[in-house]
Amino acid sequence: MSSSTSSSGTGCPVLDPSGSALHEEAAALRAAGPAVLVELPGKVLAWSVTRHSVIQALTTDPRVSRDFRRHWPGAADAPEGWALAAVAFQDSFFNMYGEEHRKARGRIAPAFSPRRVELMRPQVQATADRLVAALGEVPPGAEVDLRQALSLPLTMTVICDLFGVPEEMREALGHAIDAVLDSTLGPAEALAAQGELHARISAFIAYKRSRPGPDLTTDLLLGDGNDGNDRNDGSGGSGGSGAPGPEPIPEPVLIGTMFAMIGAGYETAVNLITSAVQELLDHPEQLAAVRAGTVDWADVVEETLRLDGPVMHLPLRYALADLDLGEGVVIPQGDPIVIGFAAAGRDPQVHPSCPAEFDPARADKSHLAFGFGPHFCPGAHLARLEARIALATLFDRLPELAPARPGERPERIASIMVNGPARLDVVPRPAGAVPPPR
Ligand code: HEM
Repeated sequence: MSSSTSSSGTGCPVLDPSGSALHEEAAALRAAGPAVLVELPGKVLAWSVTRHSVIQALTTDPRVSRDFRRHWPGAADAPEGWALAAVAFQDSFFNMYGEEHRKARGRIAPAFSPRRVELMRPQVQATADRLVAALGEVPPGAEVDLRQALSLPLTMTVICDLFGVPEEMREALGHAIDAVLDSTLGPAEALAAQGELHARISAFIAYKRSRPGPDLTTDLLLGDGNDGNDRNDGSGGSGGSGAPGPEPIPEPVLIGTMFAMIGAGYETAVNLITSAVQELLDHPEQLAAVRAGTVDWADVVEETLRLDGPVMHLPLRYALADLDLGEGVVIPQGDPIVIGFAAAGRDPQVHPSCPAEFDPARADKSHLAFGFGPHFCPGAHLARLEARIALATLFDRLPELAPARPGERPERIASIMVNGPARLDVVPRPAGAVPPPR
């Protein structure tokens, strides 16, 4: 076991809440067995699963649930102010099981089909154009944090436009989401962060109830099929057809669903874009291969998802029966399971050749970065579109873009759930570089 994975009073390896060595930790766990009992932040014990094949098996096994209410006997013992509570106890289809999950997910997922996502392309491109143009205006030699200047505003703008979040609410909502994903928070801070997020989303829902619009919140979440709102705007809204619409969603589930959509919609894609830019700046030969047409942006995006999936340990699933995984490992019924999605992409069983190396030209880039099975990420098409557009726009318009401190690995996000660089300092226009074309 690596030095980053130490043992506390429970005798189990402890996942480092700082997230500073997620891959090293995951590699040690993967080598130790098909599932390893670990201590999560808050001293909660769960079985960590980091092998590609075992993740696929458990995420499709009907004897594994995400429903903490029905299937986690230990839920009541989770500590007050648990740093992982916002995700593990999120009240939405994210934490539902079976038919209930299928129905609730079916209300939203079709809005992110490949066809619907393709319709979003012009808007994503326009946002990327605007942000990259601003980067092209910085003085020669000036440093910029690319995460703050491009990845974050791009993904936040796209998801907030879709759900109709007004401009003035976005920044605070983003901070509130960041805070609840910080695994290092103590109980008082975690409770405060969770309260803040709840308040921000409640305020947004109240706002939308009073000002419905042509957005997914209005159309998919607030509609009860009887809103008398005869929209005929091609948005697929629930009003106007005369047919009974879906059941109204209870307020707590509405809040959980908004967190699932907006949180998952930006906190993940922001890391995909930032990690991809970092890898290309660290590997100029790979950037040259893209420019020469040997590999394309889609290859870069898939390879980044394989190498550095933005979601690492996702809490939680629960065993509905004793699960015998072989090698003498049995997960007992009722025990929680934490899946390490980003670990699968570096599994040497799947990628025997240099799994920790960035190589967009490799033939097999298979990964489980978007999950697997019934909870597979509904936002995968959108995330891929955003990342491809962001990279193409950035590197086409700013051909001289350079790392501010070549070779320096930026600090990581303080989370066991979110995997990515906390910042990425770049120089959009190195001194002496030719200005970008207007
Ligand atoms: C690079 C970007 C993204 C990554 C790596 C990612 C990753 C994941 C993963 C691993 C899961 C599976 C969770 C599980 O099985 O426990 C998931 C589910 C989910 N993702 Fe994403 N995601 C990304 C982007 C997005 C976007 C853009 C959206 C919103 C449009 C989104 C919304 C969701 C939702 C709502 C779920 C829950 C689905 C369910 O439980 O049925 N994600 N995502």
